[in-house]
Amino acid sequence: MSTVRTVDDLRSALAPARRARQTIGLVPTMGALHEGHLSLIRRARAECDVVVVSLFVNPAQFDERTDLDRYPRSERRDVDLATRAGADVMFAPSADEVYPPGFATAVEVLGVTDRLEGAARGSGHFRGVSTVVTKLLGMSMPDVAYFGQKDAQQVVVIRRLVADLNLALRIQVCPTVREPDGLAMSSRNARLSPEERARALALADALQAACGRAGEGERSAGALVDAARAALSARGVEPEYVELVDPETFEPCEGLAREALLVLAVRIGETRLIDNAILRPSAVGTPRQPDPRKAIV
Ligand code: PAJ
Repeated sequence: MSTVRTVDDLRSALAPARRARQTIGLVPTMGALHEGHLSLIRRARAECDVVVVSLFVNPAQFDERTDLDRYPRSERRDVDLATRAGADVMFAPSADEVYPPGFATAVEVLGVTDRLEGAARGSGHFRGVSTVVTKLLGMSMPDVAYFGQKDAQQVVVIRRLVADLNLALRIQVCPTVREPDGLAMSSRNARLSPEERARALALADALQAACGRAGEGERSAGALVDAARAALSARGVEPEYVELVDPETFEPCEGLAREALLVLAVRIGETRLIDNAILRPSAVGTPRQPDPRKAIV
């Protein structure tokens, strides 16, 4: 695998593949790679001729300076892990390469960015994500870009901008990879103390509780959200939000008339964690719901 740091070098590295009409897959990341990221890289490896992984801790999407400063950085380890997962090119630009002096453009998706993560993290968060993802797509011009369902609202925002800007690529969403006990993998998990790590199981408990109720035939959003809240409070965790939303618009759902997404955000100590699960309406007596605790690797 080669590591490139400039847009010119990235384009040179990809030129032979483009000339040969090979397919290019892009996996955008902020580094500190874990199994969640690696599952995207492996999926890209299985589907594309050339796999590019970008590693850029994007200052524009951090609402708090301390969060940016504390973001884990481990480039050498990331290069090693990405190589073993099948990446061909690591694109690791500097902040100046991405945002050179005079840079003055922002990409802003309206509507879906107002709620939940958009409201909690400030309007700048999704503007920062949308701007950097649009730039990364322009820099690498992939045929497919890979994103994780773990960040479900981010997926909706990116799908929207790709459709609205007529970008010619496919967005592939990959399932959330979890620890064996159900905690969704996240670069932020490393910040949890042992006691906080134990309390973080509240997220998987909450999703499990809501999935369980949906499996029993419960369709009311209020009841499903209450089940999730009860599981959180059983571990002493106060949610920032718990909601049942439409998976495509992130607008609140009144009930499980069709597939919906239970989304939640909590703060455990200093660490903010998010998770979600797809709930499907099921008739009483057909209690099979996807089990959010199951590690999907
Ligand atoms: P980052 O948090 O590094 O995540 C990179 C990709 O990995 C995202 O698509 C995210 O949804 C996915 N991912 C994270 N944890 C996962 C898990 N447990 N299972 C499956 N996929 C998981 O998301 C970002 O970076 C940034 O916002 C970015 C898109 C790179 C723009 O800066």
